Amino acid sequence: MNVIKAQDYAHMSTLASDLIIEEIEKSAYFKLGLATGSSPVGLYKELIEAYKKGTLSFENVTSFNLDEYVGLKSDDPNSYHYFMQQHLFNHVNIQKHKTFIPNGMANDLQEECRRYEALIEEEKGIDLQILGIGENGHIGFNEPSTPFTEKTHVVSLDESTREANARFFNSKENVPTQAITVGIHTIMKSKKILLLISGESKKEAYERLMDPHISTYFPASILHEHPDCTVIVDTETVMG
Ligand code: GLP
Repeated sequence: MNVIKAQDYAHMSTLASDLIIEEIEKSAYFKLGLATGSSPVGLYKELIEAYKKGTLSFENVTSFNLDEYVGLKSDDPNSYHYFMQQHLFNHVNIQKHKTFIPNGMANDLQEECRRYEALIEEEKGIDLQILGIGENGHIGFNEPSTPFTEKTHVVSLDESTREANARFFNSKENVPTQAITVGIHTIMKSKKILLLISGESKKEAYERLMDPHISTYFPASILHEHPDCTVIVDTETVMG
């Protein structure tokens, strides 16, 4: 695990976008794994800027998002479909039919998980997976105790996760209780992983991640086993 200490959020976002742009540029066809949450928003802004300047094109990019809430329509402002439109897709030349996000409105959620996993398999996996981290160490929505062998699956969200994400909803009661998430097995098969850590609430998660002990109780700890994982930490908020 390669840990890069950025001065602040803006620096973390620039370092992350430089790394991603370099990877996209050297590839004829690139499969990018996307994450939601406040950690990657600055990175997405940088990617949009690069596109506007003409230094980045998404023409050759296919994207797969990590997760989606169950029961939110794609036009719900709290859905991750909506988040991606607002924070990236509406502003760059990525082709709509090449952007994939689990469908949390599917009638048969198990079938939707199988379909989504098969789509990633057909593409022979993700080239670079962007990750954020939950206060409890979740990656995607893989909550503590999730087996590392899981592929795309339906999860019941931890109460602590619903509380942490309640800031986006009117109240905690409105936060969905379930989500679909790409599993840790699939995340670990990505060729490269880029984890962004920012915010005072992530202090403990960062400290636990720096402990090389691997345990399902702290899902992100598995990243120690990945051959090419970069962590960029915003030291101003996480270590300040
Ligand atoms: C949600 C998402 C995660 C994300 C986490 C942290 O739970 N499912 O993918 O990493 O939030 O979000 P933030 O970056 O806003 O702290």
